[in-house]
Amino acid sequence: MQRRNKMSKIKLTINNMEVEGKPGDMIIDVARRNGIEIPHFCWNDRMERIGACRLCIVEVKGMQKLIASCCTPIKEGIVVNTHSPRVLEARRTNMELLLANHDLNCVTCKENLSCKLQKYAEELMIQDIRFDGEKRTENPDDSSVSIRRDNNKCILCEQCVRVCNDIQTVYAIGLQKRGFHTKVSPPFGLDMNKSACVNCGQCVVACPTGALTEKSDIQGVINALNSDKYLIAQTAPSIRATLGECFGMPVGTPVTGKMVTALKEAGFHQVFDTDLAADICIIEEATEFIKRFKEKKDLPMITTCCPAWIKFGEQFFFDELHHMSSCRSPQAILASLIKTYYAEKIKKNPKDIILVDIMPCTAKKFEILRPEFSGEADYVLTTVELAKLLKQLNVDFSSLKDSKFDNPLGESTGAAAIFGHTGGVMEAALRTAADWISGKDLKKIDYKAIRSMDTMKEAEIEIGGEKVKVCVVHTLGEARKLMEQIKEGKSPYHFIEIMACYGGCIGGGGQPPPHNKKTLAKRTKALIDVDEKMDVRKSHKNPSAIKIYKEYLGEFGSKRAHKLLHTHYSKKDYI
Ligand code: FES
Repeated sequence: MQRRNKMSKIKLTINNMEVEGKPGDMIIDVARRNGIEIPHFCWNDRMERIGACRLCIVEVKGMQKLIASCCTPIKEGIVVNTHSPRVLEARRTNMELLLANHDLNCVTCKENLSCKLQKYAEELMIQDIRFDGEKRTENPDDSSVSIRRDNNKCILCEQCVRVCNDIQTVYAIGLQKRGFHTKVSPPFGLDMNKSACVNCGQCVVACPTGALTEKSDIQGVINALNSDKYLIAQTAPSIRATLGECFGMPVGTPVTGKMVTALKEAGFHQVFDTDLAADICIIEEATEFIKRFKEKKDLPMITTCCPAWIKFGEQFFFDELHHMSSCRSPQAILASLIKTYYAEKIKKNPKDIILVDIMPCTAKKFEILRPEFSGEADYVLTTVELAKLLKQLNVDFSSLKDSKFDNPLGESTGAAAIFGHTGGVMEAALRTAADWISGKDLKKIDYKAIRSMDTMKEAEIEIGGEKVKVCVVHTLGEARKLMEQIKEGKSPYHFIEIMACYGGCIGGGGQPPPHNKKTLAKRTKALIDVDEKMDVRKSHKNPSAIKIYKEYLGEFGSKRAHKLLHTHYSKKDYI
C-alpha cells in the first residue's frame, strides 16, 4: 500500500483563499471543508455524483464553461470562484428553470420554511421567473401509512431514488417515463403501499422539497388531546438528542427535561420513557442470546428494534427469519406494558387510554399497525412532527423548565440511552450478556470498535473465556450483504445489530435534516454523554425494570414476558 505523504496534497485557491485537498477530492468537498457553502440539490456525500441539477456550478480561471463543482476533481493550482457574478447569474437561471415546473404552493406545503428550493430561491433573490414551464397536476400518493408522495413538487434531483436503490437496496421507487413526463414512482406506476417500500423514510430525509414527506398524524393527536381519553406519550431514546434542533438549538443538545415539560404542556397526562422498555428489551434479548449461544442454535442472532429492517427481512430474506430475535422493539414493549400492566395499575380500561409514541422513524407508523400489536399504540409522531405540533400549540420550547419522566415507566439506564445510535443496542446487550455469562459485574470491556460511523463494523469480545463475534451494520444495503452471507451459511458472527438508517435512530426518517456525518456524530455524542452521566449503566440493573418483573412479568424470559414482550415474523409479499 502506498504511503500518503505531503506530495499527495493538492493546493488550489477558492474565493481568494489558499486551500489544500487530496487526490480524488471534488471542488465541492474542499470548499465545504473550508467553510464555503455551495448550493446543491443532487449531490450528497454518501452517494454517487450525477451532476444533474447544475446548481453547484463554479467558475475556474481559464476555463470557458462553468463547471459542476460536485463532480469536478481538484487540480494543482486551479483558481476557483464559487460566487462570481457569472456564476450567480447562471445559478439563478438554473433555479428559475426548476421553479418554472414547480407548483409553487409554498405556503400550504408541509416543507414550508424548511425547503431547500425555497431557501436557495430566497438566497439568489429570485423574484420573477422568466420561463413558462409546464406544471405537473398529479394527485398526491397517500396510500402509504408512513410516507406521502407529491410529484408536483419534485425537481428530479434523484436523491430519493438513489438512497432507496443504491444505499437501502429496496428498489421501491425509480425514474419512470421520459422527457417532461419523467417522474419518481414505484415500478409500473403502482402506489407506495403496493411497492417494496420498508417505510424507513430515508427518501423523505433526502428530498430537498416537499415531494416526499412523512404521513402526518398531527391532527389525529390534536383531536385526541381534546377528547376525554387518558393521554400517554412515550419518547424514544434518540428524540432527546435531536428535538432541540427543530427549535434552533445547537446540534447535539440533549433536551430530555424540556421535552417532557413540552408534552405535559401539550396536554399529555403521563409522559413515559421508551428507554425503560429498551432496558427490558435488553434483558429479554440477552436472555435469548445466551440461550442460543450455549445451544449453538439459530446463530447469528439478529436484533429486531428497527421496523424497517424487519420488513426488509420479511420481504427479501424470509427463509432466514429464525435468525431474528423474537423480542419486540422498545416501542412495542412499552406499548404492551402501558395497555396491560399500567392500565391494570391505574384501574383504567385500555380502550380509554390513548398512547402516542414519539419516534425518530416513519417506519414506526407502520409498526404500530402490524396485526400482532393491534390495540396498543394509537399514534406515532416523528421528531419533526412533534416539533410541528408544539409550534402549532405555541409552546415556547427553548424557555421551558426541565421535568422528569413519570413513574413507574420513566426510569432508565445509560445502556438504554445509547440505543439511539449505531452500535448502541449491541453494546447495551453485551454489557448485560457479559455480566451474566461471566457471573461478574464487568467494568472494562472496550466497545470502541462498534461505536464508529463505519456502516459495517465487527468485533470479537472475550467474555468468561468465550469469544463472541459480533457485527453491527447500518443502512439496508449493508444488511443485505450480511443476509446474503447468512443465506450461504458463511456468516462468522454470533450476534448482529441491524439498523436501517445511516447512524441508527439519530438518522431516522423522522429526524430533522441534514443527516450528514458531522450532524450524526454530534447527536451520537449527546447520547454517549447521557449514558456516561448515569449512575446505572446496565439494563439488568434498572430498579424499575426489576420491579416490573417482580410485580407482573415473573422471571426474565418468563412465559408472561414472552407473551407481552416478544413477537413473530412472517414472509411478506409485495407488488
Ligand atoms: Fe452538483 Fe447537482 S449538486 S450538479
